[in-house]
Amino acid sequence: MEKAPLDLSGAYRLLNPGCVVLVSTGDGRTDNLFALTWNMPVRKEPCTVAVLTGKRHFSYPLVERTGEFGINVLDARLVDAIYGCGTTTGHTGLDKFRAFGLTRQRPRKIKPPLVEEAVATLECRVAQVVDLGASALLIANVLHAMASTEHCPGGNYSFGSGLELVHHLGGTRFALSGKEIHARKYMPKA
Ligand SMILES: Cc1cc2nc3c(=O)[nH]c(=O)nc-3n(C[C@H](O)[C@H](O)[C@H](O)COP(=O)(O)O)c2cc1C
Repeated sequence: MEKAPLDLSGAYRLLNPGCVVLVSTGDGRTDNLFALTWNMPVRKEPCTVAVLTGKRHFSYPLVERTGEFGINVLDARLVDAIYGCGTTTGHTGLDKFRAFGLTRQRPRKIKPPLVEEAVATLECRVAQVVDLGASALLIANVLHAMASTEHCPGGNYSFGSGLELVHHLGGTRFALSGKEIHARKYMPKA
């Protein structure tokens, strides 16, 4: 396979992380949404996740104040809303729920609202902040999680059900994950 060297400023794109999610924040008076690609699970028990967030985002002080945020996994039909939430800011006073046709859903364990249209939601409480200067890695415990019984039966995404999730490639470009394949199990040769 022929390969070409890359500028390291864009080398992070070679690691295409999980699907883009909407992070919801709020303190009971103000709330907000922003798109987030840099997310990952970090521990099963207790369920722990990590997200990388810019500190200049309108959302950041809301997370600092409450120590809480929601992770909302939206499917490909809502890609315009995902992109919109990632290219607009609450600093302008924009109500992103309203602007992008999303519905606030009451959470069970945290203050920030969730997104009703999401196929899955995770309610998170920050356990540790790794300060990276202009950004911060938030390591958070998941206090409550819900998922669509159609698209995530038994808590595992099922791509046979028409579900498509979106992965950010850069700018307005997204890729879809929507098809399952099954690996052959390794059988040592006798
Ligand atoms: C597809 C996409 C993915 C993004 N991923 C991240 C991310 O992983 N972390 C982050 O801090 N910002 C990410 N952003 C940028 C924020 O969503 C963006 O700066 C947003 O305007 C912040 O909103 P706020 O100022 O209302 O909080 C992403 C934007 C887009 C469009």
